[in-house]
Amino acid sequence: MIIAETNRLILSKITVDDAPMILELMNSPDWLKYIGDRNIKTVEDAANYIQNNQLKCYELYDYGYYKIQVKSENLKAIGTTGLLKREQLEHVDIGFSILPDYHGKGYGYEAASEIIKLAKTTFNIKTLCAITLPINKPSINLLEKLGLSYQKRVKPFEEDEELLLFAKDL
Ligand SMILES: CC(C)(COP(=O)(O)OP(=O)(O)OC[C@H]1O[C@@H](n2cnc3c(N)ncnc32)[C@H](O)[C@@H]1OP(=O)(O)O)[C@@H](O)C(=O)NCCC(=O)NCCS
Repeated sequence: MIIAETNRLILSKITVDDAPMILELMNSPDWLKYIGDRNIKTVEDAANYIQNNQLKCYELYDYGYYKIQVKSENLKAIGTTGLLKREQLEHVDIGFSILPDYHGKGYGYEAASEIIKLAKTTFNIKTLCAITLPINKPSINLLEKLGLSYQKRVKPFEEDEELLLFAKDL
């Protein structure tokens, strides 16, 4: 189900058929370095992950994470972006991740800008936040381009390092 379209991209709901892409994404070097190893090692693991995360979010909330497809590449799915309400954070969180071959083409900005528009107009979200490791320069660069500004250091997850919290009022 398509939820938005930009010049070059289509954003649509993730299904269990996206398991091979999610497996590749969650084992890409930047995901492992900046987000962490979620121990998703087979297509079946990825399908279960989708079932228990993205599909569950669609049931609980109006919004969630969406796959990013490139129109000029026969709708190849190159990553995900979307919104998540984490119990550890006050506001809805925006996130994004793209397969390495598709970094540096402006796809992250194009897709996440559309998510911010949806957050405001369709989902009526008043404030968005984002968390990132301080060493994740591509993510910080993208958050700042999207108009989120640095707030403070936070430690929302016991087992993790300190993260930078960004936010933007819509
Ligand atoms: C963070 C991440 C999504 C950024 O993706 P991206 O698509 O490369 O990011 P951007 O949209 O900012 O584009 C990057 C560069 O593409 C360049 N670019 C090339 N062609 C472009 C075009 N047609 N339009 C716009 N920018 C273009 C831009 O110069 C931009 O760099 P700049 O902002 O320094 O000018 C990506 O690095 C990623 O998936 N990282 C791993 C997962 C991760 O860490 N997620 C965040 C967790 S907190």
